[in-house]
Amino acid sequence: MRNQDWLSRSLAAVWHPCTQMKHHQHAALPLVPISHGKGAWLYDFDGNRYLDGVSSWWVNLFGHSNPRINAAITDQLGQLEHVMLAGFTQRPVVELSERLAALTAQACPSAAALGHCFYASDGASATEIALKMSMHYWRNNGRPNKTRFVSLAGSYHGETAGALAVTDIALFREAYAPLITPGETVPAPDSRNANTQQTAADIAERAAHALEAWLAEHHEQTAAMIIEPLVQCAAGMVMYDPLYLKRARALCYQYEVHLIADEIAVGCGRTGTFFAYEQAQIQPDFLCLSKGISGGYLPLSAVLTTDEIYRAFYADDVARGFLHSHSYTGNALACRAALATLDIFEQDHVLQTNVTRASHMLQCAASLTSHPSVSNMRQRGMILAFDIANAPKDFARRFFANGLRNEILLRPITTEQGCTVYFMPPYILDDGEIALLYERTLLTLDQTLKGSV
Ligand SMILES: Cc1ncc(COP(=O)(O)O)c(C=O)c1O
Repeated sequence: MRNQDWLSRSLAAVWHPCTQMKHHQHAALPLVPISHGKGAWLYDFDGNRYLDGVSSWWVNLFGHSNPRINAAITDQLGQLEHVMLAGFTQRPVVELSERLAALTAQACPSAAALGHCFYASDGASATEIALKMSMHYWRNNGRPNKTRFVSLAGSYHGETAGALAVTDIALFREAYAPLITPGETVPAPDSRNANTQQTAADIAERAAHALEAWLAEHHEQTAAMIIEPLVQCAAGMVMYDPLYLKRARALCYQYEVHLIADEIAVGCGRTGTFFAYEQAQIQPDFLCLSKGISGGYLPLSAVLTTDEIYRAFYADDVARGFLHSHSYTGNALACRAALATLDIFEQDHVLQTNVTRASHMLQCAASLTSHPSVSNMRQRGMILAFDIANAPKDFARRFFANGLRNEILLRPITTEQGCTVYFMPPYILDDGEIALLYERTLLTLDQTLKGSV
């Protein structure tokens, strides 16, 4: 079957995520049937190929159809695909929990490891778990009034009802208002506002003062602050100085409010270190992981936390326990994919090789940096982004469509402030692929600005 057949069958039967389905009627938002993937490339049924510059929604780390992850999953399939995790355990989930805890110990040697790992399937469920655990912790400790949450302006933590409550994107939230008790927001330390008058650190300091003022007033009712460390991805790859995390950590200790690090997007090396929060030398009370944790293979998320929090639930009374569950919690195949992913990090010294890869990305982006329509070129590790000044109507959709014609897969983010083009590729692009990605981006940008499609 060719593309066209899959297209019409998909449009008839599949309701695609985060999409106004009617837009797929127009050429400006093509639906692309994918037949297979290899390395950083995806292939459709008509033989066209696309370089995956966004890691398939920020999940893929080591390429599509990676032989090492494939082998690990295949081996696991011959042993155990899944067993319920309530009342049972299995080897991959135990090993993964131990290895993740060890990584948190390495990330912040001055603090105890996050030694207790709770599992779910998607990022949003990890957010839900962290919020519920935090609130329940305070209740178990005789402080049932601590039920509020605070996040940064523009925050994104997922789209289930609890996660939406701490997601500050009106478009995603408005229609469901009756389901949601919205959290509060404090100003984001957006380093794009840095200039000769104020550095990114000054901006972080000022935003930390605003957080302090908020906590001083509301800490008695606040369970936790939830934050995307270093890069607010869905907000348009908004980057900020690690100093803000340092200050937020200190303030949360001071005001007895938990700090939840949502590293669903920025974890697993995206920002240059395995966990983004390492760059501020802090340890959160909760760490949410998903997306890249399984190498981009299988739905898996994890929430890691401290001994102290774990102990608050450990009692004879059932109701003091954390009675949350999902059927596929700790799925053996997904955990095995995660173990294979961690092996690749270790065996291939991925964080070190990414330093060179990231600097090559920035070099290749030079022709974009000097483009008259490009502003705020910024990079944190393997995430590189720029904004389009005065982006014309429908820029993001037209850029996506033009990119596909130029064999690149990029999905700009439209925000209230404008439009951001970003790169978050898998960690396997070679120099030639990086050069191609940026050459084709320039071509796509010019075509889109000229009004093609
Ligand atoms: C920071 C952050 N948190 C949570 C989520 C939600 O993850 P999922 O889409 O797997 O539910 C995302 C997804 O993009 C994210 O970027």
